[in-house]
Amino acid sequence: MADLVLKDVEKAYGEVKVLKDINLDIKTGELIVFVGPSGCGKSTLLRMIAGLEKISGGEFSIDGVRMNDVPPAQRGIAMVFQSYALYPHMTVRENMSFALRIAKKSQAEIDKAVDKAAKILQLTPYLDRLPKALSGGQRQRVAIGRSIVRDPKVYLFDEPLSNLDAALRVATRIEIAQLKEAMPQSTMVYVTHDQVEAMTLASRIVVLAGGGIAQVGSPLELYERPQNEFVAQFIGSPSMNLMAGEITGTGAKTTVRLANGGMAVSAVPTNAADKGLPVNIGVRPEDLVEAAGKSPAEAIFTGEVEITEALGEVTLLYFRRQGEAAQVVAKLPGIRPELRRRTVSLGADPKKVHLFANGTSLLYR
Ligand SMILES: Nc1ncnc2c1ncn2[C@@H]1O[C@H](COP(=O)(O)OP(=O)(O)O)[C@@H](O)[C@H]1O
Ligand SMILES: [Mg+2]
Repeated sequence: MADLVLKDVEKAYGEVKVLKDINLDIKTGELIVFVGPSGCGKSTLLRMIAGLEKISGGEFSIDGVRMNDVPPAQRGIAMVFQSYALYPHMTVRENMSFALRIAKKSQAEIDKAVDKAAKILQLTPYLDRLPKALSGGQRQRVAIGRSIVRDPKVYLFDEPLSNLDAALRVATRIEIAQLKEAMPQSTMVYVTHDQVEAMTLASRIVVLAGGGIAQVGSPLELYERPQNEFVAQFIGSPSMNLMAGEITGTGAKTTVRLANGGMAVSAVPTNAADKGLPVNIGVRPEDLVEAAGKSPAEAIFTGEVEITEALGEVTLLYFRRQGEAAQVVAKLPGIRPELRRRTVSLGADPKKVHLFANGTSLLYR
């Protein structure tokens, strides 16, 4: 059992507020991921939960007990860092049991805890090896094992995969997902700047930006129903396209005339007062489809493909629309390099067309 509650938590270094208005309820068994651009305060927030950083304002509690002034060792929390310094002269078993020996636990207790952790982490065959005879991913698992043996209520991870190469990152990410499954009652908070890690691991994602929380939700909620342009563009790769326009028709289906030629229909409902409202329409690259020969309502714009990138299972098409700062990207299934320099009409299902006014989704006002 470990429910974590952050209430109006803030952090200031001198005059500079790096975090404010952080309100968050984390339930036992959740794997919460903090994601956001570099410098947005992810590590700071995690370190405040760990007790390594003082909380400047607000309250943090575990299972209803205020933690603001409780020292790190008494919070029932284990933190796994990016760099996993193992003792090089100790075997895996010795590394994993070190903290328990310091705590003067009995040999039987130590063996039981280490064997259990090794099983969860699939380290049993390596218990008698030295760290130098392990791969990077195995060493990272030993580092996690050192936390597991202490049986903490809460695990905190700060970008644990960022030192690993690409293939190992994927493998270790899957291992962390399995680790979570093996310990359904433990609460985990995981920091990353990698949105794929966030999407694949999280039960809920907290997107941090500009010193506050931009949105909290399950990975698919954030993908399908982003509340603002920041979240819309942060989750998903390539990013959601945003194109300027103005509402011309209201009702259950909203029509938008694009500033630079074209028209979109969105299933986001609007009312008469919204007529003329300047908006950005948002469409994900994977939601744009070829619309040649379809009804005009389904085509959003027609343009020349500037560049194609054939990735194998999909081809990315890049359009430069006059007067628009960013390129528009479409992701079409299959291998389509022949579309370079061709003129293509693109449309989207109105249910997949987002509308934002002043950066906020019109779904959520
Ligand atoms: N000890 C400190 N003194 C002053 N500013 C700090 C200190 N530690 C972190 N910061 C600032 O707080 C902000 C958040 O940092 P951090 O939590 O490390 O970001 P993230 O982990 O999201 O990359 C950054 O702008 C950083 O410069
Ligand atoms: Mg950090």
